[in-house]
Amino acid sequence: MNYRICLLPGDGIGPEVIAAAKDVLTALPIEWDFTEYGIGFGEYQRSGSPLPDSTLQAIRQADAALFGAVTTPPNIPNYFSPVVRMRQSLDLYANLRPNRSIQHPSSRPSIDLLIVRENTEGLYSGIEHTDEDGNRAVTERVITRKGSERIIHKAFDMARQQGRKSVHVVHKANVLRQTDGLFRAVALEVAQDYSDISMNEMLVDTCAMELVRAPEQFEVIVTTNLFGDILSDEACMFVGGLGVAASGNIGADAAVFEPVHGSAPTLVGTGKANPVATFFAAVMMLDHLGETESAGRLRKAVESCIANNETTPDLGGSLTTSEVTKKVIQKL
Ligand code: NAI
Ligand code: MG
Repeated sequence: MNYRICLLPGDGIGPEVIAAAKDVLTALPIEWDFTEYGIGFGEYQRSGSPLPDSTLQAIRQADAALFGAVTTPPNIPNYFSPVVRMRQSLDLYANLRPNRSIQHPSSRPSIDLLIVRENTEGLYSGIEHTDEDGNRAVTERVITRKGSERIIHKAFDMARQQGRKSVHVVHKANVLRQTDGLFRAVALEVAQDYSDISMNEMLVDTCAMELVRAPEQFEVIVTTNLFGDILSDEACMFVGGLGVAASGNIGADAAVFEPVHGSAPTLVGTGKANPVATFFAAVMMLDHLGETESAGRLRKAVESCIANNETTPDLGGSLTTSEVTKKVIQKL
């Protein structure tokens, strides 16, 4: 099996962490066909667009894509966010954010929570206006049956695939009676198809509180766009934070995996960029490709480095990006 992988290094430390991930993937017993495409501010300076059509086309044709990070430039009139545009253009409707405890003082124990966030609608519909007098602004919160069905199915399918027993559907249907009323109603319907998994409901404010109080109670959370954005950043701080947090953006025709962090411009060239978040993104990509055994091997190798304090300074260690990469490859 020869997997076609589209690498999207981007800006800042993006190229450093993507190069590191390419090295660890190459060390696995899998045949890869890597190609690199441009995205971000550097690409805009080169070609005039932060997300050229050739990049979108390459992601569609690949088996999966691995994306580093981009830098948001100061106000440039015709600039757009290539990350938001990529998710919309490729209809990457599911944002997956796993949160697993690591053996590190900054991590709480016994957490293994997957947050499944709707990635295309909700309060991030992009439908906004401000009244002519400038005194009133409105954003439309769009929830559709189709959008809700596919994200809730995704959450239950992932739960089943990963041998989990429960899914929390998080909403605010008591106040957002129409939009979250629909999301909740669809969830109750979809849950009927999964008699092996229990569905729990929780209001989003309660969930924010319960996450802090007892995060280990959750297995899978599925929720709408804005709520998922906030809860997933909250959750990642219990299990190591930005240096280790990874995500996947999944659609019917494309899948893009990435570290959660940004381009960290001050770290460029210092060797201090932690490659672990991108390694965990690569683990998600391997799982997505069905390479479960390699995914497990890579995850174990990375976890073992963390447990041995073979880490970059952000996690308390004294290794460089390439030294951590070598350690991980040795453990594979
Ligand atoms: P950031 O995530 O780049 O950095 C936040 C803090 O975490 C900094 O102190 C940084 O040094 C540290 N950090 C980040 N990644 C790290 C790593 N791998 N290893 C060690 N330390 C790490 O967020 P910030 O500073 O707010 O934004 C910098 C640029 O990145 C901005 O232009 C922003 O717009 C962009 N950004 C891009 C994202 C993406 O491409 N998905 C996401 C977030 C921000
Ligand atoms: Mg990123």
